[in-house]
Amino acid sequence: MVPAAWPFRPENFLRYDESPDTLFYDQPRFVTHIDDKAIAALTKFYGEVFPASGGQATAVLDICSSWVSHYPPGYTAGRVAGLGMNEAELARNPQLTEFSVKDLNVDGKLPYADNSFDVITNCVSVDYLNKPLEAMFGGRSDPMYVVYASKAA
Ligand SMILES: C[S@@+](CC[C@H](N)C(=O)[O-])C[C@H]1O[C@@H](n2cnc3c(N)ncnc32)[C@H](O)[C@@H]1O
Repeated sequence: MVPAAWPFRPENFLRYDESPDTLFYDQPRFVTHIDDKAIAALTKFYGEVFPASGGQATAVLDICSSWVSHYPPGYTAGRVAGLGMNEAELARNPQLTEFSVKDLNVDGKLPYADNSFDVITNCVSVDYLNKPLEAMFGGRSDPMYVVYASKAA
């Protein structure tokens, strides 16, 4: 739940290293960031809450996406969009029907119309964003699942 009044100030999101994120994400990293049990639990959860697979009118968005989205194996929808920082990672994600490369720490606005997705996911990445209100919580009315976990790597 997002509190009624945003409790954070911009300086709360300053980082020790403020160099552009594009430098770090220049190289693809085909790794998983949570362990196998966490992935299994997450995939099971998605399977329980997502619209049924195969719906041509269904639209899903994975932000801070990579080469894996942990969606149920074989899950399809008319639109499965991914947004992240590395094109090679996103291009290898077999569950996406489209992807965008965008640095949300430069411009936090998601490049999609409000309420255009049945589900938005953000897995183990909310802590990477320095404009989370703009990117995720401010003014959007799409249902959203934010997965926060201690990462394995
Ligand atoms: C820990 S990885 C998680 C990847 C994927 N969600 C998963 O569950 O394996 C962090 C992800 O956040 C994305 N990311 C980091 N900084 C970002 C930024 N400034 N704008 C958009 N995406 C960003 C990266 O592209 C990367 O895929």
